[in-house]
Amino acid sequence: MSDTFSYRNGILHAEDVSLEAIAKGVGTPTYVYSSAKLKQNYKEFSEPFKGLKTTIHYANKSNANQAVARTLIECGAGVDITSGGELERALDAGAAPDKIIFSGVGKTKDEIAAALKAGVRQLNVESIPELKQISAIASEIGKKAPVALRVNPNVAAHTHRKISTGEMGTKFGIDHAQLDEAMSLVKTLPNLEFRGFTVHIGSHLHNYDNFREAYGKFAEMVKHWQGKGYAFHGLDLGGGVGIPYDGQTQAPFSDYAAIVRDVFKDFSGELSFEPGRRLVGDAGILLTRVVYDKQGASKRFLIIDAGMNDLVRPAMYDARHSIIPVREPKSGDAKLADVVGPVCETSDLFGVDYSLPGVGQGDLVAILQAGAYSAAMSGNYNGRPLVPEVMVSGGQHAVVRKRVSVSEQMGWESLPPWMASAKTAKNA
Ligand code: LLP
Repeated sequence: MSDTFSYRNGILHAEDVSLEAIAKGVGTPTYVYSSAKLKQNYKEFSEPFKGLKTTIHYANKSNANQAVARTLIECGAGVDITSGGELERALDAGAAPDKIIFSGVGKTKDEIAAALKAGVRQLNVESIPELKQISAIASEIGKKAPVALRVNPNVAAHTHRKISTGEMGTKFGIDHAQLDEAMSLVKTLPNLEFRGFTVHIGSHLHNYDNFREAYGKFAEMVKHWQGKGYAFHGLDLGGGVGIPYDGQTQAPFSDYAAIVRDVFKDFSGELSFEPGRRLVGDAGILLTRVVYDKQGASKRFLIIDAGMNDLVRPAMYDARHSIIPVREPKSGDAKLADVVGPVCETSDLFGVDYSLPGVGQGDLVAILQAGAYSAAMSGNYNGRPLVPEVMVSGGQHAVVRKRVSVSEQMGWESLPPWMASAKTAKNA
């Protein structure tokens, strides 16, 4: 737990705001973000690179909320986007187009055209067909497309297999064997401006040695192509720095920065980063209430009002988030319980054997480390309203995404014209 989320007078607070008050006003489940923590994280990420030419592009996919993006943009961040939707979001949140990096393996024609028209900083290209497509669209609209090639260094990230991207056989990046062809196309295809290389081997890396290995290979590739006369404006080193979840530890960020400084000491261009989790992960919690305290024959279950549709990380990546009571426990004793949601799937399980002293039916708990890939991946499975988001700043708080009711969601749907609505049908 950080000092941002701390007990005051026995109640868990986000900065100066009581989570009980938020639960009362907004209801549960709800995400709560701390703007002070976002700012602190940005500072922690940027300061160790002082003196180097660096740019930081917040990975919008990790938390798409406009208030979160805006907070980081105000700190000086650019944005890393993966779709036309995120381009719209980034521009709306106030990102300067020339601070936007467009990543992703499947950019469509429309998305490429929109990015070029907006004047983004660069498109990170992941395949030869994509390179050809970008050149064709750039020629059509009479623009030069700034491109960086994402190389696949074939290095293991030793993170969860579903978020590992740096090995051959994954869909990501241009394999070594195809790099010669891509590099000659960069020179011969019209309307391309080569800016450099980019690499991203996965997300939530806890062992910085894996970065050292990937960056080392990457730096060798860069030297090789510089030797062949290619000018590199910059290198984009991706995201991927992990944070400690429940029971985990993570070496200080300065160790990562030291590796970057060391590996790229001979490179005189710009170094860019695309952090998501490291900026927002511990700046958010999911505030939820226990619906039932169910003592089964062999296990105790705390059934909470948040489900896998609100926070899918445990079900999808076997993640274990810390869970703590909102009322500060008076003793450390508690009967262990599995924390589960209401969704009709066995995978709707936040984790087994949590100790939550003093927590029973009707009590509030906070699921920590829920700022990254949490609300952003939420959905409406099981006919559930989309979960709201609240931002706190000092003693103030505001709803920054409202709870989207089921009736609003049904309004997105329509019956085909040959079907009478249930309200007007004779048999209703
Ligand atoms: N750059 C690229 C090209 C990426 O694909 C990603 C994340 C990032 C940057 C940001 O990575 P970060 O600094 O956040 O690790 N939903 C998963 C994580 C998926 C990561 C996708 N790409 C999770 O909840 O763990």
